[in-house]
Amino acid sequence: MRLKIAVLAGDGIGPEVTREATNVLRAVAELGGHDFTFVDGLIGGIAITETGSPLPTATLDAALDSDAVLLGAVGDNKFNSLTPDKRPEAGLLQIRQALGGFANLRPSIAYKALSASSPLRPEVTENVDILFVRELLGGLYFGTPRSWNKETNEAVNTMRYTRDEVVRVARVAFELAGKRRKKVTSVDKANVLEVSQLWRATVTEVAKDYPDVTLEHQLVDSMAMHIMNIPRNFDVVLTENLFGDILSDEAGVITGSLGMLPSATIGGAVNLYEPVHGSAPDIAGTGKANPLGAILTAAMILRYSANLEQDARAIEQAVHRVLDAGYRTADIARGHMSGQQTVTTQEMGKRVHQALAESI
Ligand code: NAD
Ligand code: IPM
Ligand code: MN
Repeated sequence: MRLKIAVLAGDGIGPEVTREATNVLRAVAELGGHDFTFVDGLIGGIAITETGSPLPTATLDAALDSDAVLLGAVGDNKFNSLTPDKRPEAGLLQIRQALGGFANLRPSIAYKALSASSPLRPEVTENVDILFVRELLGGLYFGTPRSWNKETNEAVNTMRYTRDEVVRVARVAFELAGKRRKKVTSVDKANVLEVSQLWRATVTEVAKDYPDVTLEHQLVDSMAMHIMNIPRNFDVVLTENLFGDILSDEAGVITGSLGMLPSATIGGAVNLYEPVHGSAPDIAGTGKANPLGAILTAAMILRYSANLEQDARAIEQAVHRVLDAGYRTADIARGHMSGQQTVTTQEMGKRVHQALAESI
């Protein structure tokens, strides 16, 4: 199997975790006889510093010319005073739009070995397996008009969705639910927002094509509570862009750390793969970053861009085994249990690599 992967490591811990993810992919290629090539590109703050743009044309061209894009993270506090269109994050939003993927899949799984890493009680997190399907190209992130008028002290963002945008992402959610526990929970704020009323009406209509899948609607505020209270009740959770951004970070609490969460964005010209977390400037350069979110993101590349389900599972199982063996980066080392060893980003990556070699 040949696969050309554009690697956009970005800022902060982005390069640190991406390195471990590509190392794991190299190991899979070697063990499975695949031919994976990696093409590096600049994005985010580092791209602004080196080229003046958060998404240089060369990066976009390389991404569009690849089979999959692996992105680390963007964001650097030194750009905090810039307007949104000039910041590192603009590069991420531009590449999402250019690649065209509208369905951002964010699994949140409770690992048995990490039950002490979550502040939630083990009986609450046990067997939790949620898949967020977050709409990624609409809503407040891209709606116009948008502005900040410094004279009148008025700022505007627009939450906008068309029916077609809701239909296409809802179909992804129902298709995936059909292969899982057959339940879709659609999240909105239909008690206040017209956009959410359109969302709810459209999702309800799409549901008719999937009679074996149960649909429920939840308002976003109480959903934030339900997810912590009874996370086991949820299978596929379908959200608009900003609600999904917020709820998926919240769901990091179920796993034990935001650093554990992977994502894949499908439906466009080239799929985009990124861990859910950001550039984590508070721990960048310390070797404390958890690379497992990025490594699990690499598994999603194999699943969704290469149809290498076996290899994707091999990576996921290797992660399970490393956790079962007690290896922890600082973020999941909570609990100080005996039999655990706190390791650096690099050591964690190496452990997964080794576990993979033993099983593939
Ligand atoms: P963040 O996700 O970077 O960090 C939140 C907290 O989680 C921090 O305490 C951090 O140390 C911890 N954390 C995150 N990833 C971790 C990992 N892999 N291992 C261990 N701990 C981890 O969010 P933030 O601090 O709100 O944002 C920092 C910057 O990242 C901002 O500029 C933001 O815009 C950007 N950001 C980028 C992306 C992306 O590129 N996809 C996503 C989210 C935030
Ligand atoms: C994410 C991030 C991004 C988002 C930011 C950095 C633009 O928080 O990927 O979750 O809000 O989508
Ligand atoms: Mn986010």
